[in-house]
Amino acid sequence: MTARHVVLVGLMGSGKSSVGRHLAETLGRPFVDTDLEVEKAEGRTITDIFRTSGEEAFRDAEEAILDRVLGEDRESVVATGGGVVLREANRSRLHNHCVVWLRAETDTLVERVERSRHERPLLGDDPRSRLESLAAERARLYLDVSDVAVDVDGRSVPVVVDLIAEAIRPITRLGA
Ligand code: S3P
Repeated sequence: MTARHVVLVGLMGSGKSSVGRHLAETLGRPFVDTDLEVEKAEGRTITDIFRTSGEEAFRDAEEAILDRVLGEDRESVVATGGGVVLREANRSRLHNHCVVWLRAETDTLVERVERSRHERPLLGDDPRSRLESLAAERARLYLDVSDVAVDVDGRSVPVVVDLIAEAIRPITRLGA
């Protein structure tokens, strides 16, 4: 049987990487962050990829990494980049896994991306309006690919992790 990974999706700043790391510990699974895997495979940062090769080159690398990560036998927790849902090929790859959407209000996202040291080339110099338009473009896609949605506003990482662990228990057989 192929491995069923727990995959976190959602906009930039929704907490996929920090929640993913803690969720992996809680579930006793390895943690994989597709953005970091892209950077490792390409030998340069995401910002450099966007700047020198453009968004499509980044999306190609992201698709190849997602394919590799989801094909691995060991069941993992996978944090994805916010735009992973844009390609139909990626959405259909997610189909057989347990996909969790970290849903957040724009205020929460803006506050978090402004606090973060992580560079996000898509945000430009007006993160609020960019995040609003990305939310409008992508909400439907996150909804379509996800098995579970968890609201993260005003919630700490451990609280979100507990909510996810509880919500996915019936889907993943974890802790059964
Ligand atoms: C992107 C989100 C980023 C990264 C890239 C593009 C997006 O990841 O993959 O900058 O299109 O939303 P995070 O969601 O982890 O910030």
